[in-house]
Amino acid sequence: MRPDPGLVVEERPTVYRPAEDSYLLLGAVWVSPGGRFLEVGAGTGLLALHAARITDAVATDANPDAVRLVRENSRRNRLRVDVVLTDLMAGLRGPFDVVAFNPPYLEGRPDDDLERAWAGGASGSEVTMRFLADLPRVLAPGGRAYLLLSHANASARALAESTFHVRDLASKALFFETLDVLELSDRLE
Ligand SMILES: C[S@@+](CC[C@H](N)C(=O)[O-])C[C@H]1O[C@@H](n2cnc3c(N)ncnc32)[C@H](O)[C@@H]1O
Repeated sequence: MRPDPGLVVEERPTVYRPAEDSYLLLGAVWVSPGGRFLEVGAGTGLLALHAARITDAVATDANPDAVRLVRENSRRNRLRVDVVLTDLMAGLRGPFDVVAFNPPYLEGRPDDDLERAWAGGASGSEVTMRFLADLPRVLAPGGRAYLLLSHANASARALAESTFHVRDLASKALFFETLDVLELSDRLE
């Protein structure tokens, strides 16, 4: 999806501010009318708001401030996004045709809700690996998931490649890491 300058995406100090990773993922995600969309860990709701211009959109976050902010941002733009405060996709029933996740991908343990945005546990991969383990439950047959990873997340990439058909869609070198966007779909037998 192309960034829509007409969308008003307000920010808040306690919620992850959209950055280069957010826009790299946004640019790689492709949504069509009629396909159900889910953004996991939505932050401000940047991707969910873009998707909601096109189709039904659901968003989750574990940070209550992010959940409130996505609700406010969707009202502000007169768009409908169903927002759920939950751990990853817990309690959600699929199927979703398109799922997007810009996870916390740096090494570390979060001490507060804002740190959850970047602290992804050992090698920055733990939250992503839990996401990958649950993804087949909610992804529609023939559906696609878009996942942002850092090159340091080797164990998450290995799990993705053992479970899904993986395509590298985009990559960007930043000053201390390189980010990739993977497209995950059913393995071709
Ligand atoms: C890197 S930020 C991305 C935010 C937004 N999607 C973007 O691209 O700008 C990661 C987001 O995931 C959320 N998050 C982290 N762990 C989570 C979990 N276990 N369940 C749900 N959301 C989580 C954080 O609160 C944060 O909003």
